Amino acid sequence: MSNNKEKEKSDKKYKLLFVCLGNICRSPAAEEIMRRIISQDGKEADYTLDSAGLYGGHAGSLPDARMRAHAARRGYLLEHKSRKIQERDFETFDYIFAMDDSNYDALRKMAPTVEDTMKVRRMSDYLQHYLSDCIPDPYYGGASGFENVLNLLEDACDGVYKKLKNGDEL
Ligand code: 4NP
Repeated sequence: MSNNKEKEKSDKKYKLLFVCLGNICRSPAAEEIMRRIISQDGKEADYTLDSAGLYGGHAGSLPDARMRAHAARRGYLLEHKSRKIQERDFETFDYIFAMDDSNYDALRKMAPTVEDTMKVRRMSDYLQHYLSDCIPDPYYGGASGFENVLNLLEDACDGVYKKLKNGDEL
């Protein structure tokens, strides 16, 4: 993240971080889906959005070509460069959204303080129309897995945004 982006962060009302394993499929898609929802409501100035992965093996890479292609069909341009989550992200962000239970457990273990563990949320808890206990990893699957991820994330991001907009507890 650039210095400008770092400086900007402190002024924002909500700082949301989306986390998956590789930060090349699910979490960069979640970040961009949330960005569109917020910009459609004209609230860009209130939000800092970012994504990260628990595994750093893809650091510096653009999202997976399959994820980018599926997202592009819905008009999302995924340009995030993969990065590994760092301990200081727990200080920076208000909420950290895990895509599945494995991400959730790893994030809670990594959190430096008890307060920080409370920032970790399961993305699937905000689904409104779909029923799923996780946003499933699409990496080793086919096209339908990527479409499923996008469907679930559009639903869950909208659920998160509605709650924040209403001032509800997440
Ligand atoms: P993501 O998907 O966690 O949604 O970015 C994956 C990306 C890479 C790997 C696994 C899942 N991998 O094993 O390299």
